[in-house]
Formats: sequence, structure tokens, C-alpha cells
Amino acid sequence: MEWKPDKSNEFPLYKQISNFFEARILNGELPPGSKLPSERNLAKSFQVNRSTVNSALEELKAMGLIETLVGAGTVVSDHLTREQGRLPNWSQYINEGFYQPNNPVNQMINQLIQTDKDMINFGIGELNKDLLPVDVLTHIHRQITFDNDLGYQHIQGNIKLRETISSHLKDYRNIEASASSIIVTSGAQQAIHLIIQCLLSPGDSVAIEDPSYAYSLPIFHSEGLKTYFLPVYEDGVDPEEVLSLYQKHRIKMIFLNPIHQNPTGHTLSIEKRQRMMEICSKYGIAIVEDDPYSLTGYQDNNLPPLKSLDSHGLVLYISSLSKVLSSGLRVGWIAGPQPVIQRIADLKQQIDFGHPNFSQLYATELLRSSQLDDHLISLRNRLKVRRDVTAKALTELLPDEISFSLPDGGIHLWCKLTNQKIDSHLLFKHAIKQGVVFAPGKTLGSEKHYMRFTFSRPDSDLIKKGIERLEQALRKYLKSRS
Ligand SMILES: Cc1ncc(COP(=O)(O)O)c(C=O)c1O
Repeated sequence: MEWKPDKSNEFPLYKQISNFFEARILNGELPPGSKLPSERNLAKSFQVNRSTVNSALEELKAMGLIETLVGAGTVVSDHLTREQGRLPNWSQYINEGFYQPNNPVNQMINQLIQTDKDMINFGIGELNKDLLPVDVLTHIHRQITFDNDLGYQHIQGNIKLRETISSHLKDYRNIEASASSIIVTSGAQQAIHLIIQCLLSPGDSVAIEDPSYAYSLPIFHSEGLKTYFLPVYEDGVDPEEVLSLYQKHRIKMIFLNPIHQNPTGHTLSIEKRQRMMEICSKYGIAIVEDDPYSLTGYQDNNLPPLKSLDSHGLVLYISSLSKVLSSGLRVGWIAGPQPVIQRIADLKQQIDFGHPNFSQLYATELLRSSQLDDHLISLRNRLKVRRDVTAKALTELLPDEISFSLPDGGIHLWCKLTNQKIDSHLLFKHAIKQGVVFAPGKTLGSEKHYMRFTFSRPDSDLIKKGIERLEQALRKYLKSRS
């Protein structure tokens, strides 16, 4: 909750809190049945004592605005509705809407890190602010002018940005893609959504990696797709398994994150890349290559993206600025055959009339900046240091409990709990009580004894402390089972 009571105001804090909720209940923002956070979480988020929250809730109860229901916690009561007539049944609308909600664990992670600023966060896949090119962006900010840029833009994206992405793809990833074959999206995530919505129909079969970021996206199920899994090995998924899925299920499309894969950090080997292209071109299987991490490799042995090997137009190539420059600008893109890009642009027009131009202007200048190379070198070095600090802390503090292989790029460390009886989801619950959050493996499709640590996210001086908290959580978890 963003709002906080004003401690400098003489009006009692509990009154400010009860007034805050009263206003939101009476204006319909919190309709009957809405669940209020627990007293503990409210106290944390408002930065007040629990007794202050308790007094506020008691006052709201006395006014008949909220009630405590066994098993449901504190909810907005429906007596106002009973007095004033019928309201739409919002909970039914919410439960029956077309798009499925996020996995509850992901919802909880997102909520926790917004409300609990002391939580050490290994759970969200982004860069800490100290890894972002703030000085470069501040410089760009001072230089930028908005000549004719306040109107709607080309739906595929601002032409200067698309031309810049086109040269960037050539220079940094050896991909030939003209500006007309590129569409700018709101991050790689929207790119995946647009591809699914435009090019697939309910009942279509697709393959995704297991574990993977794609697994965490409810869109596949919302759209009624049949998903089949490709296990991720040290050298990536097995193209022969793609072939066998095609033979059994006629899969139409595969979603791959072939370089420094989220969450495993594994990279598809060059032999497998070639074989994958061979199989997919023989059977006409479309490849969605999701590549937000290729510029984060710590060694100079970057393998060519599948798109750079694609002379037939098999691959829809997705990337974004999120893991190297800024996730907040929400700039990503798809490069692919022009008719496909135009079809996707048509849908994007229906959804949002194109990407906001301001972030496109900043993205253009960031990608053209003479400081881009220095930033990327420094980013890779600092990511490697963070990876090593995280790995060292895990090895020192949990030598017998956790094993992992070191990724040579990316922002995640994928760990296995060696004691197979430990369920990472239950450990997660203990961990949040200790003030540290990670992504339990199951949210990414894997077995329950895996977990993902995003070492790029916490403040660097808190990484060790975060692992200490994890160790305490693990001890408590084990004790609770004995
Ligand atoms: C493999 C992969 N694809 C896509 C995304 C979405 O990123 P964004 O929409 O910020 O570009 C992520 C984010 O973690 C990711 O790991």
C-alpha cells in the first residue's frame, strides 16, 4: 500500500488509518468482500505499531464497515450493499475473467517486495539500481528534445528506434533485420503475449522449456494452448525431443530462451542450434527465440542467436532492454517476417495504439550512446562479482544442503536442494518470515526441490546477509519437521 499516515500531523494515527479505509470503502474502491491485509502487514506497510492498526480496525468494525470472517480474515462487510441496493458481484467477475491470474506465489513475491522494504529480494528478475546506467540516462535526459513526438507514432514503433535496433542487432548479435521487420513492444513479455494472441488459436500445441520463464506465464493456459515440455539440459533443450513432440502432437511453435536461460543459466550448444534449425525448417515449426540475456555473458564466447542462423524466416526473435539497461523503460522488440510483424502491429494498435514515445526516445539514445560498450563491460563484470558472492555465501553457509552449477552469464543462480525431502515452497514460507525472498522452482515449472536466486537484484552489500537469513529459515524449516 503506497499511502502512509502522516506522523507529523497531530491527528491520531489510528484515526488517519480508519479514515483512509472508510473513504475507500464508501467510494467503492474497496467493494464488499474485499480482503484487507493482515494487521501485521498493515503495520509494516504503514510503519506504525500493530496496536495502532488494531485500534483503526476496531473503529471500522464498530462502524459496520468491515468484519472478521473465520478462514477469510478481515473483509469489507456487505451491509452497505444490503441497505443501498445491488452491486455487481465483483468477485465473480474477477474469478471468471478470460485471463488466468498469476501463480499465487508470484503474486505474493510481487506484493512482498512492494510492501516490505527490508525484505532481501532474490525473487524478481531485474537489475539493482546500482547496475543501471543512471549517469548516461541523466545526460540523455538533458539533451532530449520533443520536436514532433507528442502525437501517435508508427504502430511498429518510432522509426529512429527501429533503425537503431536494426543496427544494434547487426553489431551485437549478428542478426540482419530491417526496421520494417521490427516492432517495438512493452518489454519481451508483451512480445510473447502478442505472438501468442496473433498467431495461435485455442487447442494449438506448443512446446516450452522446463523449467522456464515461459512456464510462469499464465497466457498459455488463458489462450487454451496445449503445452508440452522440453527439459533443459546443461547444453540446452534436445532438438530430437522437439522432433518427437512434433511427430506426436504436431506442435506449431516452440518457445526457447537459448542463451543464459532463465532460470538455469544454461546455453544451447552450437551443434544443437544447428540441429534445431534443421528440424524446425524441415517440418515448418515456428521458433520464438526469447533472448533478453545474450549481452550479459561474462566470457567472450557468445554463441550466435538462432535468428542469426535463420535464412528462411523461421524465427521470431524477441529481446528487450530490461536485463542490460532498464526494465522500467519497458522497451522490447520482435524481429521477424514482415507480414507477421504487420499482423502483430495490427493487434498492438487495437490494444494500445503503439508504445509510449518517451521511453522510445530514451531507448534510442541509450542504444546509440558512445558509452554503451563501457556500460555493458562494467555490467558483466559486476554481475560476475555478484554471482561469485552469492555462490560463495551459499557454499559457506549451506555446503551440504544446496548444489548448483555456475552460469557464465545472466542474472540467476539455479540451485538444487540436495536433501530431496525439502520442499522449496515450504522453505520459501519460512524464508519470507526471516526477511528474504527467492523464486521457488515450482513457479518456473521445475521439481519442488529447486529454487532460483536472482543475484542482480538485492543491494550488493546485502547478498551475504540474505543467504544468512536463508540459512536460518532452513534451520527453522527442518526443526519444524522434526
Ligand atoms: C526469458 C525472459 N523473457 C522475458 C522476460 C520479460 O522481460 P521484459 O518484459 O522486462 O523484457 C523475462 C524477465 O524476467 C525473462 O527472463
